[in-house]
Parts: sequence; structure tokens; C-alpha cells
Amino acid sequence: MSQDVDERGLEYYLEPERYEAAFEGRSADVEFFVREALAQGGEVLEFGAGSGRVTLPLLRAGVRVTAVDLSQAMLARLEEKLCAEPEEVRERVRIVRGDMRSLRLGERFGLVLGTFNVVAHLHTRQELLAFLETAEHHLAPGGTILFDSMVPSSDELDADPEELFPCDPFVDSRTGEIVLTFEGFAYDPARRLLTIRTVYETRGVRQEGAPLVLRQWFPRELEGLLRERAPGRFQMTADYGQETDLTDADMLVVRVGAPPP
Ligand SMILES: C[S@@+](CC[C@H](N)C(=O)[O-])C[C@H]1O[C@@H](n2cnc3c(N)ncnc32)[C@H](O)[C@@H]1O
Repeated sequence: MSQDVDERGLEYYLEPERYEAAFEGRSADVEFFVREALAQGGEVLEFGAGSGRVTLPLLRAGVRVTAVDLSQAMLARLEEKLCAEPEEVRERVRIVRGDMRSLRLGERFGLVLGTFNVVAHLHTRQELLAFLETAEHHLAPGGTILFDSMVPSSDELDADPEELFPCDPFVDSRTGEIVLTFEGFAYDPARRLLTIRTVYETRGVRQEGAPLVLRQWFPRELEGLLRERAPGRFQMTADYGQETDLTDADMLVVRVGAPPP
């Protein structure tokens, strides 16, 4: 299933294997989303499902998932990975190519997820509000919207845009070669957009990856926006735990309840 989509700005995701290699070590978020989905008990709508880093563990845990993403390449990779899963896992998923700002499925879910900082792809307040409206549109009475948002890091915002920082190397699954990886950061404070460059190096040859432009949602701005959009029915916690003091948080977890009937 698919709607008319515009995936400009998502070139970074054209190589899902590289994305996966960079983030394969993340697990606290996956465990958290699986726990929440099991506690909720019903079918889940996941926005920004990508190549299924969270989707697959949800499915394997027995959760039915409608997995939405804008990137055809990421969804193709998810389908490829699903081929290796048993039939009873595969039959629990529905894949939809669609936009979290505008999708209308005409169905409601007890839990609507945005997994791993997908809101950073929403570059303006209007876009974030459009996502919240889309999420609410699909929310069953008494249901919950749950998404995480990376807290801006002063190291990245203040970095010299010319400087490259080494990241963990990874093994290219296609060639078996070790790939050294470097990142650079350029911040536009007026638009609160952080452009992340990725440079890959194999056998001394460097290659520039597609840039990733991420909106920096500061906790106070996010809170102000939620106060307007969902007064009295949202909660923000830190790093997939119960902590409501956000001072040292790396990831915020935002929980929004359904509006009153
Ligand atoms: C950081 S990745 C997260 C992928 C996956 N949830 C994970 O945890 O690995 C963000 C995903 O959001 C998707 N995305 C970005 N903008 C989107 C939009 N407007 N609607 C739907 N998906 C979007 C990207 O294609 C990408 O797959």
C-alpha cells in the first residue's frame, strides 16, 4: 500500500545497510517500545519504521504492526529481512509507504509510535504539528502516541563544520571490508537544523555520504508545542525510563494520550 510521496531529503537512507551498521548496537529503545506495545496489547501503527530495527522485534514478540515509512529503500530492506522470518511473524505486518505528516489510513490503533528520532525529520513547528494531527487521527479512544526525540548535543551544535570526528568503523556486508566512518556537524541556529556529513573510508579512499538534516527539538520548545496541542495529556521522560527530570537526558520520550471524546 502506498500514497503519493515526496522523499526529497531522505537520500541518507538510500543505503539501508550502512544505516543499519551504524545503529545496530542500539537496544534500550527497542526493548522499551516492545514492552510498551505488549502492555498495550493491540495493533500498533509505527511511523518511520525504516528497515525494521524496531518493527522486527515487535513482530517477533507477537505484536501486529502497520509499518509506515517514506523511504522506498528502507522499506525494501525491511521486506528483504522479513523474507528470512517465519510465516507467523511475516503475517503480522502490513507495510505502507506514506508520510507521517499527512497519512490517513481510515483506521485507529491503541498505540501510535514514532521510533528513533523520526521527529528530527520534521523541520518546522507546522510539520511537527501535522505529525501530531496524523498520529491523533489514527488513535483509538484511550490510546497513546509514543515517540522519542534526541536532545540537542552542544558538542555537535558548537562543532567546527570543517572538522571530522571518527565514529565506530563497520564491516561492509556486501564486500566484507572494514569501513572507517567520520562525521561532521554544521548547525544553522536560525532554523535549528543540524546538517550531519558522513564520510566513509575504505582502503584509504574517502567517499562523502548523503547529508542528513535533522531538526533540533530542544525540550522546552517541544514542551511548549505539546502544551498548545495536547494540554494536560502529555508526559516527557528521559532515556526510556521513568525519570521526569530531563536535565541529563540524551533521548526524550514523549507520551501523548488520546483527546477526550
Ligand atoms: C532514524 S530512522 C529510524 C528508522 C527505524 N525506526 C529505526 O529505529 O531504525 C528515521 C526514519 O524516518 C523515515 N522518515 C523520515 N521522514 C518521514 C516522513 N515524513 N514520513 C514517514 N517516514 C519518514 C526515514 O525514511 C527513516 O526510515
